[in-house]
Amino acid sequence: MYKEAVTPAEETQLQDIQSLPQRFLQTRAQTARICAPLRTEDYVVQPVVDVSPPKWHLAHTTWFFEQFILKKFKPGYQVFDEAFNYVFNSYYESMGEKMLRNHRGNMTRPTTEEIYRYRDYVDEQMMTLLQGAAFRENPSLAPLIELGIHHEQQHQELLFTDIKFILGNNPLFPVYTQAKPVEDHPAGDPFSKQHYLEVPEGKYSIGYAGDGFHFDNEKGVHEVFLHRFRILNRLITNGEYLAFMEDGGYEHYDLWLSDGWEFIQQGKLKAPAYWHRKEDQWYQFTLHGLVPVELNAPVTHVSYYEAEAFARWSGKRLPTEFEWETACKISGYDDRHKDTFEGANFMESQYAAPVALQTEPLPGKAAQMMGDVWEWTQSAYLPYPYYQRVKGALGEYNGKFMINQMVLRGGSCATPLSHIRLTYRNFFQPDKRWQFTGIRLAEYI
Ligand SMILES: [Fe+2]
Repeated sequence: MYKEAVTPAEETQLQDIQSLPQRFLQTRAQTARICAPLRTEDYVVQPVVDVSPPKWHLAHTTWFFEQFILKKFKPGYQVFDEAFNYVFNSYYESMGEKMLRNHRGNMTRPTTEEIYRYRDYVDEQMMTLLQGAAFRENPSLAPLIELGIHHEQQHQELLFTDIKFILGNNPLFPVYTQAKPVEDHPAGDPFSKQHYLEVPEGKYSIGYAGDGFHFDNEKGVHEVFLHRFRILNRLITNGEYLAFMEDGGYEHYDLWLSDGWEFIQQGKLKAPAYWHRKEDQWYQFTLHGLVPVELNAPVTHVSYYEAEAFARWSGKRLPTEFEWETACKISGYDDRHKDTFEGANFMESQYAAPVALQTEPLPGKAAQMMGDVWEWTQSAYLPYPYYQRVKGALGEYNGKFMINQMVLRGGSCATPLSHIRLTYRNFFQPDKRWQFTGIRLAEYI
């Protein structure tokens, strides 16, 4: 029988579509698992504007499927509650009036229980849709559901960091039992020396070129010219950061950008977030409670300003996002074998904390580029050449944030493995430090 040839790209797409129902359910179940150790009171609070109540994340990710998929594509779909559009829309202007972001923590209703019922209802409706003719016959549906899954994975990472903020700013330092204690991870050898990976000058290709899911902001393969540089073959450790602190790093204005100096003065900052000094010893809050700072583990919860000041103190600089992507590629990273890359510590490891590297990276390779911490780059978050903002609500997903933010690369210990890619561009304002953010140095040679 004649069989039409299927290209590898079509094969990938077919596999992605066939596995969608299962991946949808797995993603939804994982979100609920992340919240399972919470008590009802933990679900409600919003201690600062950036940190949303876990209850809100649970409902907002559900609203995304309801609003963008069920309402449009499921014939006769009955909305769970019309009032939810106002309270669970995050930033989509095209979706109508919405509640102010800083009011999310004021809502005692709907209750957490009602929100779990909302999730069950939408899951059931989604599964009926995925098993019906509308899904098979409408080619625009699969990419939207894929986006919904990746959107929910982004919120899974936010759940970890927001839960950490909620518990870590409670003077009782409650333990979130879902995480593995970081003390269980071998401490690693202290790497007193810094070894660098050299990259020759030349033209390098940047941007997403594969057949799988990716965001619009990483699309548009283009060439950049890089001057000869070298990049640290591992992440900066707590021990190295402590040396910066002990050398008066936070007291010398000349190490800081003007905005950064003002930021640390206003916040009276002397250390990364979650660090506490008790009886001549530094402790840090982890999702497993307050533990002594592990000197060989990567430093995390630093702002761009702190990363930049540390780099200046070191006589180095932060890499650009193009240098980072190139170095990661040169180090042998391949999106098809993410979990085998050296030091790949993602959400699945369950530490919910960066961990120490066990062995020196091999010559010619940089380790810990994927997982552990999002690495601040010195690149402003800007559109790539050929970037076009799509029309409508989904054009609001990434493009409108291309102002006043810096690019971070590589994913963190709270990022789901199936969510990250070599070309993935995360972005935050330079003062943010509640995400798992860290430092890698570079310099021209
Ligand atoms: Fe969202």
